Amino acid sequence: MEPSVVTPTGGWTDPDQVAWYTERIGRIEARLAGEAMLREALPAAPRRVLDLGCGDGRLGAVVLDAAPSVERLVAGDRSEPMLRLARERFAGDDRVEVVELDLGDPLALDGSFDVVVSGFAIHHLEHERKRALFAEIGRALAPGGVFANLEVVRSSTPARHAQFLAAVGRTADDPEDRLAPVEDQLAWMGAAGLTEVECLWRWRGFALLVGEAPPEVPGAGAAAGPPSRTLS
Ligand SMILES: C[S@@+](CC[C@H](N)C(=O)[O-])C[C@H]1O[C@@H](n2cnc3c(N)ncnc32)[C@H](O)[C@@H]1O
Repeated sequence: MEPSVVTPTGGWTDPDQVAWYTERIGRIEARLAGEAMLREALPAAPRRVLDLGCGDGRLGAVVLDAAPSVERLVAGDRSEPMLRLARERFAGDDRVEVVELDLGDPLALDGSFDVVVSGFAIHHLEHERKRALFAEIGRALAPGGVFANLEVVRSSTPARHAQFLAAVGRTADDPEDRLAPVEDQLAWMGAAGLTEVECLWRWRGFALLVGEAPPEVPGAGAAAGPPSRTLS
């Protein structure tokens, strides 16, 4: 993919960066392939979905399209220009709630989401925060629920990373990126209590990392603390 303009690096509250990003994402073939794999990774007939770092809502819309069973989609981000675009996208769709959400803050969710998705957002967090968030996501999921994280991941060498940037038509890194290797992230997801963790798809610096909340154990009670933030 040829770069048409110099990649903006003003951050996710910069309207120019947001416009550049949202205009191009639907044309990146590798992203479309990752989204197709994410559709396959969804559980049968999910009802409640959470999209973390939702941007303009593109990934949430992919899930709604793939799973007509969805009754509720909560889509959160901290960028005002992104939230505005997401609200425009989902205007009139009463299944969807777009909320202001900072992934840097601990989330204590209610364990009732059948699916948690995230698209190219968690890599903006420091590694320690990623690890904590994976555990919070595990607690947000209903038993057997699916976490599907379509992500930018660390390439094995600087040369491979440069090839990845060129292949997606970027002239610069995002200064907010904190890229982690796939292997580390799978280990962190497992340590966070998720099961069936796997990199289901990879293309250069893009990957789809998935895991599941353990199935319900008959007779076992829930051991949840009081929520500090409820998105239900
Ligand atoms: C590369 S965009 C991805 C947007 C969208 N999820 C997608 O699939 O295209 C990264 C998004 O992560 C959001 N983001 C970054 N750090 C965040 C944080 N700490 N809390 C909430 N959102 C964050 C940005 O505002 C931006 O919308």
